[in-house]
Amino acid sequence: MSEKLRFETKAIHVGNIPDEETGAVSPPIHFTSTYQQSGVGKNRGFDYSRAANPTRQRYEENIASLESGNYGIAFASGMAATTALFQTLTHGDHVIIGRNTYGGTYRMAVEVLSKHGFYFEFVDTKFLDQVENVIKPNTKWIFLETPTNPLLELCDIKAIAQLCKSHNVKLAVDNTFMSPYGQNPLAFGADLVMHSATKSIGGHSDLLGGVLITNEKELADQLYFIQKSGGAVPSPFDCWMLLRSTKTMGLRVQKQSDNAMTLAHRLESHPSIESIMYPGLESHPQFELAKCQQLNSDGVPIFGSIISMELGSVEARDYFLSKIQLFTLAESLGGVESLVCVPFGMTHGSVPVEIKNEIGLTECLIRLSVGIEHVEDLYVDITQALKK
Ligand SMILES: Cc1ncc(COP(=O)(O)O)c(C=O)c1O
Repeated sequence: MSEKLRFETKAIHVGNIPDEETGAVSPPIHFTSTYQQSGVGKNRGFDYSRAANPTRQRYEENIASLESGNYGIAFASGMAATTALFQTLTHGDHVIIGRNTYGGTYRMAVEVLSKHGFYFEFVDTKFLDQVENVIKPNTKWIFLETPTNPLLELCDIKAIAQLCKSHNVKLAVDNTFMSPYGQNPLAFGADLVMHSATKSIGGHSDLLGGVLITNEKELADQLYFIQKSGGAVPSPFDCWMLLRSTKTMGLRVQKQSDNAMTLAHRLESHPSIESIMYPGLESHPQFELAKCQQLNSDGVPIFGSIISMELGSVEARDYFLSKIQLFTLAESLGGVESLVCVPFGMTHGSVPVEIKNEIGLTECLIRLSVGIEHVEDLYVDITQALKK
């Protein structure tokens, strides 16, 4: 039945059946590290919480269904999830990563895993030919983000998935920016979806989490094995918080996106803004792709909660940061509260300056994560903070 249900219904019901023992509608939190065994190796499906925990299982079932996937594998952070994915590699394997990937992914690939005998190559995954040109016999994965952080460039998931199939390479999509409500890469042919659950899935800036979702049993088994072997798992409490948070994800993400759309439209022609990047604007070079790929549960295009703006000078940027009141200067995104950040020196601090210059990420670019506050209040706040 759950396959036929829509996003909002699955969010409430999948993984949330009332507790069998007491009937509690809100599922219990299983705060336990270990489980009683009736004899050696005889248990009720659980033996140790690093391997499995009932609260985690409920959350994994719930979040997998929201990406229309069969298997969800939860981790303690988005980076723990990405690292687990790369731990499926063997010595000498090659991975292609989108060139303006999240700074932490870049750092893990270049500064940690490259020393373990894996090869990472960064290309502009917007262009199919650039991706195809670097596929090698030892290429195992293509890992991309769409829209990218913070330049909001899109990659055509379906086209890259077809390319991957023809070269026997797997495709993973970091879907953090759109959330499972706004984009479902598995439906376009990706093999795996990754999320920093810290963002829209948690949605309240109060926890860290990561998750991998796939329909492929063999891959899922490998990832569950890495999850239990490495132990970078979320606590039962965080799993319960995540299970509760997904119930309102559709409402939150739709409202954030509606707010962002209104703000982007109004700010597009503001004289103090040099340029504005938002996939929902007709001026965005990939507006048509956004309309086909980023769809909410009714199949209506949705453009996300992130807006990036070039303010032209460090002086204008710092003026904005000193005046803005409702947007807190902080890393992260996708929460109910609006945030502002300067990716150059914050989220992308570990990306070398030459690469930032090459991709067009400047010191004057600010990224807004639009929350669910009243849009008129957000608009008044932004406009009063722009230097005349
Ligand atoms: C697109 C993207 N992917 C991955 C991550 C890493 O997630 P976490 O901070 O939960 O480890 C982030 C964090 O900002 C992100 O924005």
